[in-house]
Amino acid sequence: MPDVTLTTLNKLKQNGEKITCLTAYDATFAKLVNEAGVEVILVGDSLGMVLQGHDSTLPVSVEDMAYHTRAVKRGNSSAFIMADLPFMSYATVEQALRSGAALMQAGAHMVKLEGAGWLAETIRTLANNGVPVCAHMGLTPQAVNLLGGYKVQGRLDAQAQAMLDDAKALEAAGASMLLLECVPSTLANAITQAVSVPVIGIGAGSGTDGQVLVIHDMLGLTRGHRQPRFVKNFMLDQQDVPAALRAYVDAVKRVEFPAAENEF
Ligand code: KIV
Ligand code: NA
Repeated sequence: MPDVTLTTLNKLKQNGEKITCLTAYDATFAKLVNEAGVEVILVGDSLGMVLQGHDSTLPVSVEDMAYHTRAVKRGNSSAFIMADLPFMSYATVEQALRSGAALMQAGAHMVKLEGAGWLAETIRTLANNGVPVCAHMGLTPQAVNLLGGYKVQGRLDAQAQAMLDDAKALEAAGASMLLLECVPSTLANAITQAVSVPVIGIGAGSGTDGQVLVIHDMLGLTRGHRQPRFVKNFMLDQQDVPAALRAYVDAVKRVEFPAAENEF
């Protein structure tokens, strides 16, 4: 067991202390992120883009995710490790169980999957088998082809109401955490207040229980396209990587990041 558990994260939510999360894909970064005091390390399928150079997360396999989860586990000592179930690895409940087992045996403490109400049965079965689940809602990058691009989700009243209803349904199904990507802050706040499990946000404003960023983005390493407005480069005012990671933790804990300019 790591020092940080679901119990720790639930207490942070109850006490109104912000939860910090960053991605890491290898032992060196996992160690740095852990030492900076980040509670949750996300082994994100964003590794398909930032490590493998693909233009989406779709090519990432369960074996890729397990490989990077094993590396992160070796670098980490006290953080809670969440690993992404990649594209098409949870299309059926049986597949989800097999994929979830692979990531948990590689060292994850929780898996994350992308979707909405239709995942209730999958989440329930994983949880019944001892696999904590985070449900990633809003902009779900594995569905980029269906969504027609990386766009803010839940802007229309009907969409927003459906997302709120789905969030409650997934909590009832046994989700232990929610992650909201690129949704209007008002909707993110409503969901955060409506559920008792921690809600982590990216491009979802400062009202969620915690924040996550892709580490390459917040260290200013990402090239080739304009950064989305929810990204901040924490290296700009710092001398080295450990200081930038600490600046991120401090900014999230003090509710200085995300600022109004980072929200939708
Ligand atoms: O894969 C990833 O890095 C993610 C975050 C952007 C939330 O899912
Ligand atoms: Na992801």
